[in-house]
Amino acid sequence: MIGVSGRYLYIGLLKAEEIAESFGTPVYVYDKEVVVSNYKELVESIGYRDLEVMYACKANNNVEILKTLRDLGSGLDAVSPWEALLGLKLGFRREKILFTGNNVADEEMKFVRGELGVLVNVDSVSQLRRYGRLFPETEVSIRINPGIGAGHHEYAVTGGVTKFGIYLNQLEQVKTLVRDYRLRVVGVHTHIGSGILDAEPFLEAAKVLIGVASQFTSVEFLDIGGGFGIPYKSGEKPLDLQYLGRKLAELVEGFSMRYGHVKLRVEPGRFIVGNAGVLLVRVVDVKEVEVSGLKKVFVGVDSGMNHLIRPALYGAHHEVIAVSKADWPKTVRADVVGNICESGDVLAIGAELPEVEEGDVLAIMNAGAYGYSMSSNYNLRPRPPEVVVYGSEVKLTRRRETFEDLLSTSLEV
Ligand SMILES: Cc1ncc(COP(=O)(O)O)c(C=O)c1O
Repeated sequence: MIGVSGRYLYIGLLKAEEIAESFGTPVYVYDKEVVVSNYKELVESIGYRDLEVMYACKANNNVEILKTLRDLGSGLDAVSPWEALLGLKLGFRREKILFTGNNVADEEMKFVRGELGVLVNVDSVSQLRRYGRLFPETEVSIRINPGIGAGHHEYAVTGGVTKFGIYLNQLEQVKTLVRDYRLRVVGVHTHIGSGILDAEPFLEAAKVLIGVASQFTSVEFLDIGGGFGIPYKSGEKPLDLQYLGRKLAELVEGFSMRYGHVKLRVEPGRFIVGNAGVLLVRVVDVKEVEVSGLKKVFVGVDSGMNHLIRPALYGAHHEVIAVSKADWPKTVRADVVGNICESGDVLAIGAELPEVEEGDVLAIMNAGAYGYSMSSNYNLRPRPPEVVVYGSEVKLTRRRETFEDLLSTSLEV
């Protein structure tokens, strides 16, 4: 578990400060126990008897986390051929990997379907036509855009007028192609967005999905995608997973009774790993300035938008905890900013902090999803290492990049 006790932040049974000392900063730290408990909570909340969790590894592709989920019986939602390849390499069962690409080239389908033997979830009519030409008389899944979208930011909404999925008014074209190429539509899928805290859009989308699935005779699974949100701000109301799970199970049960048994698939990413990770950074500079008579504080740290882009990209909120001053009175309001050459390089705006000084370690909380996996080498800076904590054990699972790593693809140096 990740939490504060007295003045210290603990990750599992270890003090965050000690992890930072051992592995240096910046460093991503994940708590395996939290991953496991999130997975179990999800499975228990959705009481459908034939449920398959397909972990969306775009959220976090740390190998230790993937192996943990594999051992729990999870499948994999892969959005690139390389994610599918990694899943197979790590021993995820082929039939429990679904490749949901967007703007997919023929070469990618040849690789994923032809070489890896992984089921393709088709995102457009054009892709279905090309799929049919390449792989006639095979199984396929179709991604439906149900005209309903939701998400924590407009960039995270994928249903409605977006580039994703087959629109409802294209279904006749789908049926024609399915007939012409003698395809078997075994899966009907949707993913309406990410970071959703309200159950209703999921249920509305599921109803649309069921309406589509009832028009095909070979459907084996309904996949309602991921998008289950987590609270990032204190006081934010969590998604009512019990309610959503119960209602979803009822809907799919009803479908199964009428049209024959189907599996229910969900593709959570953020829900599984979001609150299981923190980014530990060290304060390197404290800048106090006066602007129009008001004090402004910038707490500068040894990381930035290159390691955690969510605040810069989405204006996302992450709580910040001074890991060894956790119970000190919060007397400072500061922007926690990084070392990247951009004014948008923020990790937190207006964070409430205790009096911090150079050398203090801060934890950027809830950074387990879309943290490392969206990181970059911008400004020619290396990515941080990743460590996984399990109780009192701690393991380095991805090393810090080096200068040589940064140049490893350059042909002439
Ligand atoms: C197809 C698909 N499934 C599942 C997910 C996982 O979303 P989340 O991490 O919000 O659960 C995504 C992410 O956007 C996705 O594109």
